[in-house]
Amino acid sequence: MRRAIDTVAVVGSGAMGRGIAEACLRRGLTVILHDASPTALDTACNALAASLQRAAAKGQLTPDDAAQVLEHLVPSEELAGIHAANLVIEAVPERLELKLAVLRNIETSVSAETIIATNTSSIPITRLSLPFADPSRFLGLHFFNPVSKMPLVEVISTMETDDKVQNTIELFVRDQLGKTPLVVTDRPGFVVNALLIPFLLSAARMMDSGYASAEAIDEGMTLGCGHPMGPLKLSDLVGLDVVCEVADALYDGTKDAALIVPNNLRRLLERGHLGQKSGRGFYSYT
Ligand SMILES: NC(=O)c1ccc[n+]([C@@H]2O[C@H](COP(=O)([O-])OP(=O)(O)OC[C@H]3O[C@@H](n4cnc5c(N)ncnc54)[C@H](O)[C@@H]3O)[C@@H](O)[C@H]2O)c1
Repeated sequence: MRRAIDTVAVVGSGAMGRGIAEACLRRGLTVILHDASPTALDTACNALAASLQRAAAKGQLTPDDAAQVLEHLVPSEELAGIHAANLVIEAVPERLELKLAVLRNIETSVSAETIIATNTSSIPITRLSLPFADPSRFLGLHFFNPVSKMPLVEVISTMETDDKVQNTIELFVRDQLGKTPLVVTDRPGFVVNALLIPFLLSAARMMDSGYASAEAIDEGMTLGCGHPMGPLKLSDLVGLDVVCEVADALYDGTKDAALIVPNNLRRLLERGHLGQKSGRGFYSYT
């Protein structure tokens, strides 16, 4: 018998992990946050505290509430620390072998009733379900960046996922997180990235060809199409490493030429320019 979700473990405390952790904390849940890197875990906890302070300064919650929310954050340097969670959300980098290994360890660290989800952007959920002794408790739970602002969460079951697990997660997303669950099929990129990634690559390709500047491309889409942010600025926000990893994984699954990463994007990545998080991508953020 599964109990209601009151404790969520998030594995990987990077851009997405900490956003998911904050979304859960702000809705009254206890969050166990784990990262393989103690430095990354420390950075994430400090960023979470700062974000809650900013929210209090804006009057979104009282300073007392912010302090109380933070008391429900449990950082754990050891994966074993996640054992009390009734939902675990994996948010480690988008690499198949890494995710398979981490998911295998997650399953042996929690009870048989714990639901396990992955935040992968592009790897088929079915492929990630292979190491599970019990794949009926596993599904995809795809949040969007920045988690605090994006109301959508794609929910992706495999043929093995128990219907009750999917229902529990749909209710969790809607009623506990206050977001909109979109149940989608397990195909490369699900719905959103299957449409978004070719668009981002196409913008980078247009810039690479010398046809238009980054500013012109972004302005074209914001002022001409009403997009809140142009595709190159959005790529910088998402992370150029993430865009390339997702594009490569989608190309692997589809062999669609629209998913080949253009040279300018590869070159930025080779130089360590990852977008906003590294201070430089298509734009400079110093
Ligand atoms: N960035 C986005 O816009 C976005 C949006 C939706 C989904 N995603 C997906 O979310 C996942 C995480 O992306 P991100 O942008 O947060 O990555 P990130 O690189 O910012 O963070 C990943 C974190 O995982 C940690 N980590 C690495 N190996 C680990 C391990 N073995 N155990 C525990 N922690 C480990 C790293 O130290 C790092 O802190 C990826 O699957 C990505 O495709 C990303």
